[in-house]
Amino acid sequence: MINSLSEILIDRETIQSRVRELGVEITSRFDGKPLCIVPLLDGGLIFAADLMREINLPLTLLPLKVSSYGDGTTSSGAITLPWGIPESVTGKELLIVDDILDTGRTLQTLTQLLLDSGALSVRTCVLLRKEYSKNLPADFVGFDIPDKFVVGYGLDLAGRYRNLPCIGIPKNY
Ligand code: IMP
Ligand code: MG
Repeated sequence: MINSLSEILIDRETIQSRVRELGVEITSRFDGKPLCIVPLLDGGLIFAADLMREINLPLTLLPLKVSSYGDGTTSSGAITLPWGIPESVTGKELLIVDDILDTGRTLQTLTQLLLDSGALSVRTCVLLRKEYSKNLPADFVGFDIPDKFVVGYGLDLAGRYRNLPCIGIPKNY
């Protein structure tokens, strides 16, 4: 499957060590307070699973299913929440965990929706942030990357490549 990439941008070991650092950062920022991790499915699944195990806080988990991209490689605009937002967000400190900050629409829309649904606070953590989004707000960012379409470690191209252990650029992109 690695043969489908034209370039590896971030290898497995580099991801692992950055995820460990982010866990330490998040642990110290929340200072012993309970935190609810909100992985955005499907792309944020792999990152959230690894990140959670590096955070030393009383954690709970509330995955949200979010669709924004369709099968193409440019953002479709609107986001949809096919599972809705559970009432259990009320009064909680939330940390949204997603794979990538692209246009920022997903995180912006969702942050507002979660606050409107009664969350006490909403922070955001993304593994990757593209160059043209670098001024968009995110509380924790793993890596800043060029404005290229990338796959692996949760990120897909038409549903594939999520299980690649590294981040890379698919051939012909
Ligand atoms: P945003 O709302 O435009 O920030 O889009 C975020 C979502 O688009 C992410 O959660 C990804 O699922 C998807 N996405 C954005 N850029 C890429 C990419 O380079 N590769 C794969 N998926 C991407
Ligand atoms: Mg996607």
